[in-house]
Amino acid sequence: MFFRSGEAMTTPDGLGEMAYLDGRFAPLAETRVSVLDRGFIFGDAVYEVIPVYAGRLFRLGEHLDRLQSSMAAIRIDPPLERTAWVSLLETLIARNGGGRQAVYVQVTRGAAPRDHAFPPQARPTVFAMTRHIVETPTPKPVRAITLEDIRWSRCDIKATSLLPNVLLRQQAVDEGAIDAILLRGGFVTEGAATNVFVVRGDAIVTPPKGHLLLPGITRDLVVELAGENGLRVVEAPVAQAELRAADEVWLTSSMTEVVPVVELDGQPVGGGGPGPVWERVWALFQGYKRRLDDPGG
Ligand code: PDD
Repeated sequence: MFFRSGEAMTTPDGLGEMAYLDGRFAPLAETRVSVLDRGFIFGDAVYEVIPVYAGRLFRLGEHLDRLQSSMAAIRIDPPLERTAWVSLLETLIARNGGGRQAVYVQVTRGAAPRDHAFPPQARPTVFAMTRHIVETPTPKPVRAITLEDIRWSRCDIKATSLLPNVLLRQQAVDEGAIDAILLRGGFVTEGAATNVFVVRGDAIVTPPKGHLLLPGITRDLVVELAGENGLRVVEAPVAQAELRAADEVWLTSSMTEVVPVVELDGQPVGGGGPGPVWERVWALFQGYKRRLDDPGG
């Protein structure tokens, strides 16, 4: 049984949830921004998706650091202090009843008459919403396809202008796959909404960070946990041929954690099922989550 992207493990709409917009909490269904908001007009905005386990924000420091870098990269002055972000997000989670959630945070350059150049006076729009997630015990193996990476050359910025990612992921979904693994100049960059790992022999390999891929929080945690536990992790370019010859391929993201790809472009990956290295890393990831839930345990 494959896990398709349409089954994103979330409640169907989330419109009953409380959201946050520019200093106020209100039901998501009643939350409105101006049509002149540059997030709407230009996709002139950055965002984060932060998982919540047992009511606690996971790797919050790392997500806030990346949000800060994204804002700096597009020259938005931080609209909130760090402590204000933490309190906003913790309040949002608590108001929505804690448990397992996924928080979405977006900062746009604000509302202004339409002009590509930055408006002299716009105030950034800060929006956050959350959805409850139905936890599945073990991730189901997935199919992926490869596609040419048609995006820009600042994929390290977590920008909301995601039209290429939307088209690439939709093509994957149309072909019965969960995501597209993107190739630029014959080398893997990342997935349309995930980072990519391959296993070759005793080495876990993932493309190095840089302008061509998002520095994934889940990616970094996998690198950290694998390294700390004696597995060999290499951050190095992955050529298309290495991807095709890999014993295992995994996709990582805050929404899906670490998912084994068992079929790539219609061909089985390795033995055609989740591999032993994935099982080890997945168990390490679950162990890490449990330690956070119960720091004394
Ligand atoms: N996307 N690469 C891309 C292009 C992504 O959009 C994402 C995550 C990742 C994984 O990053 P992280 O481990 O920090 O979630 C890599 C989020 C979940 C989204 O857009 O919904």
